[in-house]
Amino acid sequence: AALPSGAGLSSSPRYLQVAGALQAAIERGEYPAGSALPAERELAARLGVSRVTVRQATLKLAERGLVVRRHGSGTFVAASGPERIQHPLSRLTSFTEDMHSRGLSAGGQVLSFGAGHPNPQEAMQLGLSPGQRVYRVRRLRTAGGEALAVEESILSAERLGILSAADVQDVSLYALMQQRGAAPVRALRQLRAVNADQELAELLGVPLGAALLSTERVAWDAAGRAVELARASYRGDRYDFVMELREAG
Ligand code: GLP
Repeated sequence: AALPSGAGLSSSPRYLQVAGALQAAIERGEYPAGSALPAERELAARLGVSRVTVRQATLKLAERGLVVRRHGSGTFVAASGPERIQHPLSRLTSFTEDMHSRGLSAGGQVLSFGAGHPNPQEAMQLGLSPGQRVYRVRRLRTAGGEALAVEESILSAERLGILSAADVQDVSLYALMQQRGAAPVRALRQLRAVNADQELAELLGVPLGAALLSTERVAWDAAGRAVELARASYRGDRYDFVMELREAG
């Protein structure tokens, strides 16, 4: 009943909007674990979309591990969501290392790549002058094929040498930085809560407005030069950030 009507759906591929609406309904507990989703025909009528669109949406949800499609009997809400990722905040590791240590493959699809200049704030954070060149790389980070984060790295061209989009497509950026003598050894990181806008929601496969953990970090190499300014948004439904605390003094 709480699903939006066809009139409420606009822009972005229709099946993704339907998938988002169904996912939100599952997360609200409207369809509990193990229960059947309404039949395709019924959902199509209720949402004012075609049955093909409903099918594409449920396939998307199956891909996200939220539902199981059983041939001939329908689509059921999966028993429990995938295990959350416990991410220690006190160690400086790359995304690739983090995922490999969990036995998962790591992906880094380049969403955008460009060369340019830092804005004043970025120049200060990286210890550059505004005229120096930086690369901006935005990547979709996946583990075992599942989208977990969107990361944007701003890198000093002088410190890293010439870079192209192909150099950073689906590779470990930290491994590349190490090869080029700019391995990060220390970082400062700031964490805040944000809500997914439409673009992040689609990239990460979460409902519009879903909780995300947004981090900004500056990393330095052994010579004390800032080598990366990174801004990333992690799925709040998949990540726990963990840190060790010690008594003060
Ligand atoms: C972590 C950091 C990012 C860094 C990335 C490198 O996710 N938060 O700032 O860019 O690791 O990961 P990889 O070496 O897999 O590209």
